[in-house]
Amino acid sequence: MTAVEPAPHVSVMPAEVIEQLAVTPGAWYVDCTFGAGGHARKLLELGAKVLAIDQDPLAATFLTADESWARATTRGDLRFAQGNFRDLERHAFEQGVTGVAGVLLDLGVSSMQIDEGERGFAFRHEGPLDMRMAAEGESAADVVNEYSLEDLAAIIFRYGEERHSRRVARRIVQERDQAPITTTQRLAEVVASAYPPGPRREHPARRTFQALRIHVNDELGALQEGLEAASRLLEVEGRLVVLSYHSLEDRIVKRFLLDSPRMEPLTKRPVGASEEELAVNPRSRSAKLRVGAKVAA
Ligand SMILES: C[S@@+](CC[C@H](N)C(=O)[O-])C[C@H]1O[C@@H](n2cnc3c(N)ncnc32)[C@H](O)[C@@H]1O
Repeated sequence: MTAVEPAPHVSVMPAEVIEQLAVTPGAWYVDCTFGAGGHARKLLELGAKVLAIDQDPLAATFLTADESWARATTRGDLRFAQGNFRDLERHAFEQGVTGVAGVLLDLGVSSMQIDEGERGFAFRHEGPLDMRMAAEGESAADVVNEYSLEDLAAIIFRYGEERHSRRVARRIVQERDQAPITTTQRLAEVVASAYPPGPRREHPARRTFQALRIHVNDELGALQEGLEAASRLLEVEGRLVVLSYHSLEDRIVKRFLLDSPRMEPLTKRPVGASEEELAVNPRSRSAKLRVGAKVAA
């Protein structure tokens, strides 16, 4: 993989995230979703030490694309682990990070992942039907071409909240019997052709693509385990800050903060992006920020 030019991903709600992490210079913070490093950079600028995690091999290329990351690493302020945040405690242990004052999860995919057609995340970009953030395990093409009609319909319904899930799954099965569905564009066309005619507020493939991405990356399972791990790793009064982008994720975060004996929610309602940010960063539109603090046992 080649080094990447300046980060195209614009961090969401950076000021709010930093404020909620209540940064103490010299203390350790874990950025579980490094991406292009926008949030991590702000933490370092405030004198925090950062353990950055990302499961995408692309993230590591950003660390070599910019001298300031190398300087922070040499100073001992930045450590990086490529892997899943569900294994947060193992990553912290292996990197020798203890006494964690804050954990950040900025969920979902980055703009780089979406915009890179080859990664197969987006129905608007032609590419192989892949969608794996970690470049390992089952791809979206494996799921679409091998799962039973019932399993496909269940995934599309549960993770896409798609009310036409059975119609879509039936059409996928019909079409793959003619020829395997291996590209994003073909899947987008197949899904669109299963939709009843009429006016639409969104692209008919949006929900099916979301569902496949969540399934392929086990995003909700990883989130649940990541939250549990963060609540164990944090020191008392440490902050857990989570940015989610759809209701399935936000529900899990909300429930976790209410139910966990280790955490106390600090946000009654999720915080959204400011009008100013909404005007310049479309990705911030669906963002919901929730914050918890670790309580004494
Ligand atoms: C929204 S982007 C983060 C952007 C970042 N905050 C920034 O400012 O550039 C989400 C990143 O989290 C990573 N990611 C998503 N789920 C993950 C998981 N379970 N474990 C590790 N990384 C994950 C993705 O690969 C992606 O790079």
